[in-house]
Parts: sequence; C-alpha cells; structure tokens
Amino acid sequence: MTSIYFDHAATSPMRAESLEAYLNTAGAGPSNPSSLHSFGRAARSRVTAARDAIASLLSCSPSELVFTGGGTESDNAALVGAANAQLARGRNGIVTTAVEHHALLHTCHNLQEQGFKLTVLPVDDTGRVSVEDAAAAIDDKTAVVSVMAGNNEVGTLQPIAEIGAVARDRGAVMHVDAVQALGYVQLDLANLPVDMMSLSAHKIGGPQGVGLLYIRKGTSFRPMLLGGSQERNRRAGTENVAGIAAFAAAAKLAEAERELRCRHAEELRQSLLTELEQAIGAESFVVNGPADSASRLPHVLNMSFPGIPSENMLMNLDLAGVAASGGSACTSGSLKPSHVLSAMNLSRDLVASAVRFSFGLGNTTEETKETAKIIATISARMRIY
Ligand SMILES: Cc1ncc(COP(=O)(O)O)c(C=O)c1O
Repeated sequence: MTSIYFDHAATSPMRAESLEAYLNTAGAGPSNPSSLHSFGRAARSRVTAARDAIASLLSCSPSELVFTGGGTESDNAALVGAANAQLARGRNGIVTTAVEHHALLHTCHNLQEQGFKLTVLPVDDTGRVSVEDAAAAIDDKTAVVSVMAGNNEVGTLQPIAEIGAVARDRGAVMHVDAVQALGYVQLDLANLPVDMMSLSAHKIGGPQGVGLLYIRKGTSFRPMLLGGSQERNRRAGTENVAGIAAFAAAAKLAEAERELRCRHAEELRQSLLTELEQAIGAESFVVNGPADSASRLPHVLNMSFPGIPSENMLMNLDLAGVAASGGSACTSGSLKPSHVLSAMNLSRDLVASAVRFSFGLGNTTEETKETAKIIATISARMRIY
C-alpha cells in the first residue's frame, strides 16, 4: 500500500537524533531544573546546553531565548507581551499582514477587542507584503509589527529585514514568525533588525509541544504566563527538559543540513511539477505563490486543480495513500477557504481547489512520480468540467 507523506509543513517526523536526545533526557531521572538538588542541577545543565547550542545557531545570546510550548504559544506571547509592554509607553498600534498564521492573527484580533488599533497589511497575488505599505502603516504609535518570515500555505518569503528596519527606526517592536523558515532560511539574529522571533521544534524533526521565543535584550515585554520564575521570569512553568534537549538536537541537524534540505525540497517540487505536466498537462493546474525560488520556501508547493474541490482531491489522495493538506492544518481541518489564498485575491475556483504539498528529507522523487500518477487518475475521475 502506498504511503507518501507530503505534509511536512503541518508536522515533520522526529529525526532519530532528536528522538534519541528525548529518550536519553526523559530517561535520565526526575528533572525539574528549578530544584536545587543534584537532579535539578543536572536538568538545568541539560536545558542550558540546549539553549547555548540553539543560541549559537541563531547568532544570539542564550539569555535572549525563552523556551515555550510551541509556535502558537510563542506567537501569542510575543504579541501580547510586546503590545502590553508598549501600551505602558503610549503605543497602541499593531501592524501585521493578512497572511499570518492564525496563532498570530487571532491574537491580534483579540488585542484589537481589548482596544489596540490593528492594521492588517494586504499582500500581492504571490502572497508578498510591500515594504511601502508597511512603512506607511508604521508610525510613532505602533507598539508591535509582526510579519512572518515564510508562509506556511504558499511558502512566500516576506521582506522582514526591510520592514524590521522601518519598525526599529520608529521605535516599534518587530516580531517575526519563523516557524516555517527555520531549517530553510538562515536566521542570523545578530544582523537582522528583528526584536522577537517565534520558532517551533516539530516543523524541523523535533518533538511537538516545544517552541522558542527569541526576545532581543532590551525589548519591552510583559510575560503572558505567570507563576514561577523560570526562563528569567518570561515564561512561568516547569521546562519540558526532554523536549528542549530534543529540539536542540533537531535544530543542530536542520542548520547543518540547511542547504541540503533546500536542494532536496526544490528537486522534489520540480519533479512533482514536471511529472504533473506530463501526466495531466500544464493547463490542468495552477501553482499558487511565487514562481522564482528566491522568493519562496522550497518545501511548500501550493497548487490548484480547477474544477476539483480541495476536499475531494485530498480525500482521494488520502485513499490512495498520499497525505497532503488543504492549507494550514487547522484550516484544512475546518474546510474553510484559506485566508491566505483569499488575501492573494485568487479566484474562488482556485481557492476552492487548492492543495498544499510540503516536502521533507525522507521524501523521494519516486514518491513525486507516484503522486503525479495518482493525481492523473483522480483528475480523470473527478474533474467536473
Ligand atoms: C507559520 C506558523 N506559525 C505558527 C505555527 C504554530 O506552531 P505550533 O504547531 O508549534 O503551535 C505554525 C504551525 O503550523 C506555522 O506554520
């Protein structure tokens, strides 16, 4: 039975090295890093080693990294933390884009209900926000600007360095959701004008439920989770020691293999497109998002098969053993039209027939060939015009 996993942007299988780090740490005995006894000290040194390793990959100071419960928590904590801290300085504006992950957008809308002034920037038909629009929206009342590095549905890269420079110039906190970019884009925090960055372990072969929030030294921030003094009072709660050790193991691999990952994903993407052109003809599908490789993440391929509703294509792919997605995992779960594709102003037919394939290291070109054949069979059966 065919079993092809093309949904790495939803979650990526744990790498063996990460799993090993998880098991070794979880099996090493009771480990609360806040405990003063030898067990606690051992746990703390594991967390410290992981933090140091990830800080060196990102070119930041270990003290600027806060471990969280995943990308969603990092996004929530960043927006709430920066917005509330900046409010105390008379700043009440939030600027973001229409294509952010719901973890970010829903948090922004919640802050708007609390009285913050929200500006949601439009994107072009490739999903990219313009620096000019951002510059026009950011002023001396802006508390926080949040723009993702790479989009999870279509892969579009955003001009975060340019927008970050404007935000910095005007005294606003710049947050970047780099959950999908990690492992594909160099995230050099020493040189990026970015104050906060969200990361998640399970998109790079680490465990689920572990994330990071980078908070540049000196950035105004009010913690969202209150309680103990863990993570230098920025995120209360006993650390997920095994998860953190496993995150570091996955992050080291992702960074060491970054170029290989990019090449490999690009090869799979090209292969699926070429095979599909041969199997069903180039006129039978449309690629959503930027065409040129410099403007997008390599591992996300969003395409529409006009005339075939997404859910029909996805269900038939699943029956044939191919796992893909209709957009972000939560969007496909609810079968709502994608807010990202809608923001790109794609026609209703393109939005309703979109499917996201996302690749990872375990995938092969045999799988893309097999998938193209399966899509050809489904298309012949399903196309309604
Ligand atoms: C761009 C982006 N941000 C945030 C998240 C949420 O991350 P997590 O699943 O770790 O909560 C995701 C996950 O799909 C994502 O793709």
